[in-house]
Amino acid sequence: MNHEAASALDFSSDVVIELDQWHRRTTIPEELLALAERDIPQFWDRIARDMLEWIVPPQQTLRWEPLTAESVAPVARWFDGGILNVAVNCVDRHIRTWRRNKAAIIWEGEPGDVRVLTYYDLYRQIQRFANVLLSLGVRKGDRVTIYLPMIPEAVIAMLACARIGAIHSVVFGGFSAEALRERINDSQSSVLITADGGWRRGSIVPLKRNADQALEQCPSIRHVVVVHRGVEDATHVPMQSGRDQWWHRLMEEVPPSCPPEAMESEDPLFILYTSGTTGKPKGQLHTTAGYLTGVTATTRWVFDIADEDVYWCTADIGWITGHSYVVYGPLANGATVLMYEGAPDYPDRDRWWALVEKYGVTILYTAPTAIRTMMRWGEEYVQRHNLESLRLLGSVGEPINPEAWLWYWENIGGKRCPVVDTWWQTETGCIVIAPLAGRTPLKPGSATFPLPGFAAAVVDERGTPCPAGVRGYLVLTAPWPSMSRTIWGDPERYIQTYWSRFPGMYATGDAAVCDGDGFFWLLGRTDDVLNVAGHRLSTMELESVLVEHPAVAEAAVIGRTDAVKGQVPVAFVTVRESFPIHTGLADELKDYVVERIGALARPAEVHFTAELPKTRSGKIMRRLLRDIAEGRVLGDTTTLADPSVVQHLVQLYREE
Ligand code: PRX
Repeated sequence: MNHEAASALDFSSDVVIELDQWHRRTTIPEELLALAERDIPQFWDRIARDMLEWIVPPQQTLRWEPLTAESVAPVARWFDGGILNVAVNCVDRHIRTWRRNKAAIIWEGEPGDVRVLTYYDLYRQIQRFANVLLSLGVRKGDRVTIYLPMIPEAVIAMLACARIGAIHSVVFGGFSAEALRERINDSQSSVLITADGGWRRGSIVPLKRNADQALEQCPSIRHVVVVHRGVEDATHVPMQSGRDQWWHRLMEEVPPSCPPEAMESEDPLFILYTSGTTGKPKGQLHTTAGYLTGVTATTRWVFDIADEDVYWCTADIGWITGHSYVVYGPLANGATVLMYEGAPDYPDRDRWWALVEKYGVTILYTAPTAIRTMMRWGEEYVQRHNLESLRLLGSVGEPINPEAWLWYWENIGGKRCPVVDTWWQTETGCIVIAPLAGRTPLKPGSATFPLPGFAAAVVDERGTPCPAGVRGYLVLTAPWPSMSRTIWGDPERYIQTYWSRFPGMYATGDAAVCDGDGFFWLLGRTDDVLNVAGHRLSTMELESVLVEHPAVAEAAVIGRTDAVKGQVPVAFVTVRESFPIHTGLADELKDYVVERIGALARPAEVHFTAELPKTRSGKIMRRLLRDIAEGRVLGDTTTLADPSVVQHLVQLYREE
């Protein structure tokens, strides 16, 4: 267990926030809760039948074959025999009710432009865009890459894919051309959907330009659909004839209605790339019925979402939180979703609170890094606005330190709103450990307990449960409907990463501890995955980019604890002898990483060193580098091949 990898959370906190003052609480019938305790598959069977609209209901709830010495791969099939369509569940079923003219999406662009789309608007636009995709030759099972800013077209494009059974792969708009190319080539998408650009902090994010650069080496792409977000004059956007077409033109040319594809429960819904422990991102594959069941149910339980709510999840659509809790979960519940395109400090640091006041947001779901940033900016920005509409606050993406939790609770929630800390992953598809809104007692900094239908444990190296208060590995001990089914194109890696470590259990890669009251405290990653401002990055990914630079012979990247972002990447680099270190080289390398991956991967520091500390078997001792970067006393160095290397590094670090 890598103790240093975890952030320093005080899990002995015994502050318990009781819930007597809240009159609203999630309603799950006691009888269902009892069923979840007794029989997890039967519980999910009830939930899936009750919460989803089926063309043909499922015949078999679960086929679960864990990985054993005899089997080659684990098999998890949920709701076999069932036929349904996700777009129908998220939109069509609502337009048959009074929700037809209810706002589905209230969108505000960074410059202040506003669009409101009702469920009926979505219904019409999704069908048209589904027809556009069909006209471009996209068929069930084909992949479509979406590289868009936070605009309603991103939601329309995702649901249009779902309508015709195409598999979407959304790539975060902050990723570089290079990162986009890698993801397109891995998924072999035939269509790319992008925009002229998006707004971020008053500047243009040049998505089409990045896309053009990426597409120089993406032979699978046959068509590019370009949304005119309006950041550029349309006549200035280079459109490659025969390949690029405007979204608005195509939408005019197609018929208005498109019948939904009948999808089997286990048909793929989307691929989403996430960082793992190697340089290559992993395409997590989520399927239709299980994913939708998981996100629909957890949106209801954790946020207690209701028709009168204005719900705002600040995540970008390019991350799993954007997929599950901006698009699929809330829309399946017929909710009103606020979407905002830009930065929280544009034009001023009160923009989020201005939005909460303007639209009367009732539920706010964001990341600890954002909360810590707002804390640093100070309360004056919050106090400019009336936030009384808020009734529930959520947190996701990284451990929330009790100080940030309490600040959120006091300053944003006015001590009225439960704070739900939600633990989950791209792989889990939906929230796994979190309080039930208004029901579960809260301890600041703890995600509390697994939700009904989930089974989690903290185990030691051998997979034996740890006693209360002892940290170990977080595992999930029963299959759940929205689990990632495989890694696109690399099933072996899926088995190795998640199922081989502890037989019969899913290894999350996180460290955790259960306290004496059974509360779960999440303590960060145990592997070489960084969590930078709630975004996952692998140290290997950064290292493999750095060594591609002509100056770099070898590189090691570690995560250093950061008060605002949780962690930031710090690079230790050895330079080729033929390459003199010049003063601008550190910045050049930082820019190089941004160019290859995106701004979120920018190293906070680059240190040059003659050698990297290695074990005798040649493994870089990242733990040691982490100690050095964080100024800690050095741990055991007896396994080092050349201990003087470290002494040198320590000295170097102190001198800088
Ligand atoms: O380390 C955990 C951390 O984020 C990882 C998952 O990252 P990603 O797949 O990008 O999904 C982020 C949004 C769900 C986890 O392995 N993490 C996520 N939520 C929490 C968390 N760590 C502590 N507390 C959380 N609430």
